[in-house]
Amino acid sequence: MFIRQKMMIQTAAAGLLLGASALAAQAQDTVKIGLIVPMTGGQASTGKQIDNAVKLYMQQHGDTVAGKKIEVILKDDAAVPDNTKRLAQELIVNDKVNIIAGFGVTPAAFAAAPLATQAKVPEVVMAAGTSVITEKSPYIVRTSFTLGQSSTIIGDWAVKNGIKKVATLTSDYAPGHDALKFFKEHFTAGGGQIVEEVKVPLANPDFAPFLQRMKDAKPDAMFVFVPAGQGGNFMKQYAERGLDKSGIKVIGPGDVMDDDLLNGMGDSALGAVTAHIYSAAHPSQVNKDFVTAYKKAYNQRPGFMAVGGYDGIHLIYEALKKTGGKADGDSLIAAMKGMAWESPRGPISIDPETRDIVQNVYIRKVEKKDGELYNVEFETFKDVKDPGKTKK
Ligand code: PHB
Repeated sequence: MFIRQKMMIQTAAAGLLLGASALAAQAQDTVKIGLIVPMTGGQASTGKQIDNAVKLYMQQHGDTVAGKKIEVILKDDAAVPDNTKRLAQELIVNDKVNIIAGFGVTPAAFAAAPLATQAKVPEVVMAAGTSVITEKSPYIVRTSFTLGQSSTIIGDWAVKNGIKKVATLTSDYAPGHDALKFFKEHFTAGGGQIVEEVKVPLANPDFAPFLQRMKDAKPDAMFVFVPAGQGGNFMKQYAERGLDKSGIKVIGPGDVMDDDLLNGMGDSALGAVTAHIYSAAHPSQVNKDFVTAYKKAYNQRPGFMAVGGYDGIHLIYEALKKTGGKADGDSLIAAMKGMAWESPRGPISIDPETRDIVQNVYIRKVEKKDGELYNVEFETFKDVKDPGKTKK
């Protein structure tokens, strides 16, 4: 009796051990990505675009790379940084993810940065656009953009194109402050004048009272930064207040003319000139294929947030290929530095010194093509680095 019991215990223990080692082997064969994005709340369109694009990429390229199975764990932070922090912590500690990715707004990217540093886990920023983000952790790499990249260029363009007086309307948080600062620097250096400056809250902004002030200031154009997802509402109120009729054109970084909303904005958007990193009308074969596949899968046009997600997952796949499947943070970050490829937006690379994205910035004008509104690119600035990095 006693011997039989002992044997049973031994067998059970061996079974447990076997189970544990099988689990460990499985864990080693899987690379886990914690994708933290806003799927609800005011920034939900950003999360949905990124989630869509990551899924599309994985359908196109398979879910195995360098012998590792890729597992994406999607979490909704509703763009609330306290949620982001808690979710990143849970993903790192409990789920043992190898990479965290997403980050629909700057405060979310900031909130996760100390955790990325502590755990030595790469943080792939696919959406947020404040310059300083990549300086918050040596484990951050960005595949989105910075507001400085586009706002400097539209500032110079405005001066060269006879715009003398500008009223500004920017979302009152970090990327809005960057957009305003870089635009102002370039526009005023060229002799332009800022005649009115308003900042609107990030959450549920009512633009109407601000728009009246813009109209009264009688500028040649208004410089607008609102984050992805808010452009439709902004342009509706712009038309309702008659700003289109009074000839005050919209200029700015391209966030306000996001492709996923543009078609619903109506003719008041026609003629808006923005500088940006992506247009669904970008005339390359890679982009045509991307837009066709995205539309087929989701029955809508991809915007620039979708492209940030698509490039972010591509960067992770290529880094894993380069490390031969090694998924520790230091190996992955080393592999990501300097990587270059052709994105749907055009040629891009990761600056090996700053881990930030280097990309073309295009000046575009909203035009109607085949009954639909598009940002039609007409001038290209090649390989633009983030102008906000402290020079070393
Ligand atoms: C940001 O929070 O950094 C952000 C979000 C949406 C944008 C641009 C920047 O369109």
